[in-house]
Amino acid sequence: MARSWLLTAVLLVAVIGSPAAEALGVNWGTMASHQLPPSTVVRMLQDNGIKKVKLFDADSGPLGALAGTGIEVMVAIPNNMLDMMTDYDTAREWVHKNVSAYNFDGGVSIKYVAVGNEPFLSSLNGTFLNVTFPALQNIQQALNEAGLGDTVKATVPLNADVYESPADQPVPSAGRFRAGLSGLMTEIVQFLNQSGAPFTVNIYPYLSLYGNDDFPLDFAFFDGTSSPVVDAATGISYTNVFDANFDTLVSALAAAGVGGLPVIVGEVGWPTDGDKHATAAYAQRFYAGLLRKLASNAGTPLRPNQYVEVYLFSLIDEDVKSVAPGNFERHWGMTRYDGQPKYYMDLTGQGRNTALAGARGVEYLPRAWCVLNSNSPPDNMSRLGDNVGYACTYADCTSLSYGSSCSGMDAAGNASYAFNAYFQVFDQEEEACGFDGLAVRTLQDPSTGTCNFTIQLETTSDAAGRRTTVATAVLAVFCVLAVMAITLV
Ligand SMILES: *[C@@H]1O[C@H](CO)[C@@H](O)[C@H](O)[C@H]1NC(C)=O
Ligand SMILES: *[C@@H]1O[C@H](CO)[C@@H](O)[C@H](O)[C@H]1NC(C)=O
Ligand SMILES: *[C@@H]1O[C@H](CO)[C@@H](O)[C@H](O)[C@H]1NC(C)=O
Ligand SMILES: *[C@@H]1O[C@H](CO)[C@@H](O)[C@H](O)[C@H]1NC(C)=O
Ligand SMILES: *[C@@H]1O[C@H](CO)[C@@H](O)[C@H](O)[C@H]1NC(C)=O
Ligand SMILES: *[C@@H]1O[C@H](CO)[C@@H](O)[C@H](O)[C@H]1NC(C)=O
Ligand SMILES: *[C@@H]1O[C@H](CO)[C@@H](O)[C@H](O)[C@H]1NC(C)=O
Repeated sequence: MARSWLLTAVLLVAVIGSPAAEALGVNWGTMASHQLPPSTVVRMLQDNGIKKVKLFDADSGPLGALAGTGIEVMVAIPNNMLDMMTDYDTAREWVHKNVSAYNFDGGVSIKYVAVGNEPFLSSLNGTFLNVTFPALQNIQQALNEAGLGDTVKATVPLNADVYESPADQPVPSAGRFRAGLSGLMTEIVQFLNQSGAPFTVNIYPYLSLYGNDDFPLDFAFFDGTSSPVVDAATGISYTNVFDANFDTLVSALAAAGVGGLPVIVGEVGWPTDGDKHATAAYAQRFYAGLLRKLASNAGTPLRPNQYVEVYLFSLIDEDVKSVAPGNFERHWGMTRYDGQPKYYMDLTGQGRNTALAGARGVEYLPRAWCVLNSNSPPDNMSRLGDNVGYACTYADCTSLSYGSSCSGMDAAGNASYAFNAYFQVFDQEEEACGFDGLAVRTLQDPSTGTCNFTIQLETTSDAAGRRTTVATAVLAVFCVLAVMAITLV
């Protein structure tokens, strides 16, 4: 009897299928010099069965492409707009234009509004301390007034540095909100609790490892560790930093009187370039462990056996993100700048050697590169450093940094990489391959085994769109004439 019940349960799970892809969300950032068309990105989400997406603004391009898909969306108010949102009329106007406007049959299924993005990050020096909570209150109030309060919740994606454990008791059960933030955070989480909104936290095991040579490498992953953190107060042994971090938050919430507040992970992921630990192999290992864990609905030791809503960071590389956090910052994508997967990743959490479905129908610029002209006269060569520096100010050279995919090259290789990156950012325009006569255009791919000299995307900016339209029109006229000529003959 018991056995047949078990068999039924197993069969049921098999029939319902793995809940992993169903439950997974991804972050879709748009800080790239050349972007895939929103419709291409949305099709990639659908091809991969991804049903939740988190945005960093409320731009009408992505939202328009998401309309009618049923994909759940978190839209966002950037930090620099928080101050404005402390005015209620402005908040109401924002909700009207950016949320209510999409609330129709065949519209966008907006579920959350992110009020700011990590506004209390220590490195922001408290700039948004006074405006975030009033903005959160106004946005939720405006959502309520618009009749959307039951289905759309305002939340604040926060960096994990808003909470911590004391240095003399570095265990999850001792988690508290950061000194100095404690009063404000308590007000915020009690407000979230009242409005039925979740706490949103970004957790980065990679950042625990980055710049901390004493951090045990295996503790950043999910396959066991030789150095677990044993929490004497609870008797729990933590084998990965994700669980330890999440449970530190759970303890901080309990101490603030809202121990049951739902938590969603707004960002979690692993970068693939720009640092010795930012590699495709580590990213693959991290996601394999994370996705297996999520698919099992194991939860964390303090919140066991539950589904955790998670948004992976990030869907696509973004080559114009600030590198203030580190050279890895432009390489968080599960796919490259062109929507092609970088490593094996099985969203169902079964660890199969399968890759994400890449973006379809991607249009690239022609197969042309810009490299150092090694025959340049010595006078011009003396200006090489300045020109490389100039190129790297406008283009992404982070793959040249120590420990990165292109770090093994000599000075000439470096210069070629920089010149090409610049040339591609500026759509392969002739003037973009000048550099005091030091550069030359080539049709021969200069890529090496590990270092990719990429070709940028053909973008669908208005200007490019017009060019294409004009070209198509000219071609059409030409074809008509040709057909007429043939007919006449
Ligand atoms: C949202 O609404 C405001 C008006 O309050 C508008 O200025 C803005 O462009 C809209 N879109 C975004 C991305 O915020
Ligand atoms: C924060 O302060 C540091 C040190 O004073 C400064 O270098 C940095 O630019 C400041 N950051 C912001 C976002 O204001
Ligand atoms: C926030 O408010 C406090 C108290 O009114 C004030 O001292 C502080 O300068 C304000 N901070 C910012 C960044 O505006
Ligand atoms: C707020 O938190 C309390 C204590 O955790 C809980 O009992 C209550 O249901 C929560 N309210 C909402 C709206 O979730
Ligand atoms: C190449 O560029 C990187 C990054 O700017 C630099 O660290 C490295 O020293 C350069 N290598 C040579 C040989 O110039
Ligand atoms: C060297 O640089 C000068 C000044 O920018 C330029 O006029 C000249 O054409 C360059 N020489 C070559 C061979 O490109
Ligand atoms: C290098 O980039 C091109 C597109 O620019 C792509 O087709 C190719 O697969 C990439 N190679 C590697 C090793 O990533």
